[in-house]
Amino acid sequence: MPKTQVAIIGAGPAGLLLGQLLHKAGIENVILERQTADYVLGRIRAGILEQVTVDLMDEAGVGQRLHHDGIVHHAIELVFRGERHPIQVDKLTGGKVVTAYGQTELTRDLMEARKAAGLPTVYEAADVSPHGFDGDKPVVRYRHGGQEHELQCDFIAGCDGFHGVSRATVKDKVTEYEKVYPFGWLGVLADVPPVSPHAIVYGNSERGFSLCSMRSLTRSRYYVQCPLDDKVEDWSDERFWDELKRRVDPHLAASIVTGPSIEKSIAPLRSFVAEPMRFGRMFLAGDAAHIVPPTGAKGLNLAASDVKYLSSALIEHYRERSAAGLDHYSDRALQRVWKAERFSWWLTSLMHRFPDTGAFEQRLQDAELEYLVHSQAASTSLAENYVGLPL
Ligand code: APR
Ligand code: PHB
Repeated sequence: MPKTQVAIIGAGPAGLLLGQLLHKAGIENVILERQTADYVLGRIRAGILEQVTVDLMDEAGVGQRLHHDGIVHHAIELVFRGERHPIQVDKLTGGKVVTAYGQTELTRDLMEARKAAGLPTVYEAADVSPHGFDGDKPVVRYRHGGQEHELQCDFIAGCDGFHGVSRATVKDKVTEYEKVYPFGWLGVLADVPPVSPHAIVYGNSERGFSLCSMRSLTRSRYYVQCPLDDKVEDWSDERFWDELKRRVDPHLAASIVTGPSIEKSIAPLRSFVAEPMRFGRMFLAGDAAHIVPPTGAKGLNLAASDVKYLSSALIEHYRERSAAGLDHYSDRALQRVWKAERFSWWLTSLMHRFPDTGAFEQRLQDAELEYLVHSQAASTSLAENYVGLPL
């Protein structure tokens, strides 16, 4: 029966980054992915990287394109009541910045490095299922090419996202914490220059939330908050551009370059954490264990910090025969997860209009925005969470 040291379920950012870090440390691993590589690359996801994530890509030896094509941001902007307010995150955090680099490109870099190293990735692996992780001989079963397969391993990493099989396998051992938000985000991708290439713009208007972002200097990513029961077909490009302009200040609205959408979709928002993140010799990482509303751009960065903790613990196990890192993985990862969950919930609550908000609560939101942009202490708190708390 084929054997490896670490069986990784899922070839998204978490699985690929873990595989690359383990490979660099000489630890054998196999990734089992149920989709095709093209399907994985076809996903449109946020790409605002904390320095921790950039450093991890460098540690994995795949940071070259990121440093060449990534756009460094020293600030973000909040726009409300028709006025823009820059938050100079670098000055407020002793020089920390974030980098805009699409998740698709990050995934591509990791896929190409894995292929170049000749590492085994089984795409279109069907009915993947983890077994025996309560003992010391876990196996992962799957079907591929019309045949049943079994992969023996020392450890299983469940990097299979929110709808994966890993957490589902231990659902009776998991405590779930969830909050679903009463609105969605309508996102548009367009090959037009971003209106604010060096700072993401977060808007709160009486019409709802908006966000001005980018994938490169020639490809923009915009969002507007929309009702949960809206359908993409309700939103023509013209209606989208008109609505976006109504939600930002007049000068910014006049500067937005519009164009045909190349992707348009509506995504729901949820906060979700599953505890614990370890089950014997199986460990959850990334979206398999937690989900954040995209407002704080923490999803990819949390996947990266989980992978940093887990890869370090596995390397320590094999090199020093120590179980300390593995025994502390879940508590350590969850400490950072919950701080990012809090920040993502807070920024979502601050920047969106909620259907059931009364007049008093709306005034509180207005007051918090004014306090935030005029208080160095409040802006510093926003900035240090946005650039990423220390590992
Ligand atoms: N068997 C094998 N692979 C699976 C299975 C399964 N049963 N279920 C899911 N997968 C694969 C998916 O096809 C996907 O490629 O696992 C991968 C999980 O990747 P992601 O969902 O991208 O999760 P993760 O790697 O943790 O990355 C988190 O992605 O969703 C965004 O906002 C999130 O940016 C964050 C990042
Ligand atoms: C994005 O570019 O998709 C993006 C940027 C910042 C966010 C969320 C999404 O907070």
